[in-house]
Amino acid sequence: MIKTNTEAMRFDYDLKEYIENNSKSEYHVLDLSCGTGLFLAKQINYFEELNIKWYGLDLSEQMLNKANEKVQNVKFVKADVVDMPYVSETFDFISNNYAFHHYSDKGQALNEIYRVLNKGGIYKLHNIAIHNMPKWWVYHYFPTAYFEDLKRYWQKEVIFSELNSRGLEVILKVEYRMENIRVMDYLSYAENRVFPYLL
Ligand SMILES: C[S@@+](CC[C@H](N)C(=O)[O-])C[C@H]1O[C@@H](n2cnc3c(N)ncnc32)[C@H](O)[C@@H]1O
Repeated sequence: MIKTNTEAMRFDYDLKEYIENNSKSEYHVLDLSCGTGLFLAKQINYFEELNIKWYGLDLSEQMLNKANEKVQNVKFVKADVVDMPYVSETFDFISNNYAFHHYSDKGQALNEIYRVLNKGGIYKLHNIAIHNMPKWWVYHYFPTAYFEDLKRYWQKEVIFSELNSRGLEVILKVEYRMENIRVMDYLSYAENRVFPYLL
């Protein structure tokens, strides 16, 4: 059996650290582009003792329906990242997994993220670093996908400077990992995360 990054991650260590360093009676956490709710399900389970109000936003109704089946007590909303239905400075922590490359207006997405984030809060953008992985198995089987991805993924230097220019203190980490995988082992994982979006 293989463990993907998402499966291996039981809890978000940055959220844990934020909570340890910022004692509050209540926290507000948004999973931006939450998809089928994989991240929320894990965090809600791990942080269940704490008073955290959970939020999930996604553009796709099908994704949100799946997420709704998975977790309770989350305020889900169908919306576009470029125009989020939240008042300014709402969230202590915004997670954003494997979605940033989908945003057609990334600049406006960042403006909105900055607007709804509390001062001193954390925006955690997590994605694959495609520029470092031209030999990824996906590109092996679908070579044209690499060239399409080059158009929609920002280089890490651009991500750094765009976040920085909005007044965020940026910590950029690139983790490298090489492994042998069997494509069939990835299928159920891919079905859960990607396929509903394609329907
Ligand atoms: C690959 S999925 C990742 C889902 C989830 N974060 C995860 O890690 O499983 C990308 C998600 O981004 C969402 N998305 C794409 N464009 C969006 C936009 N403009 N505003 C909000 N969500 C968007 C899609 O609907 C989809 O659920």
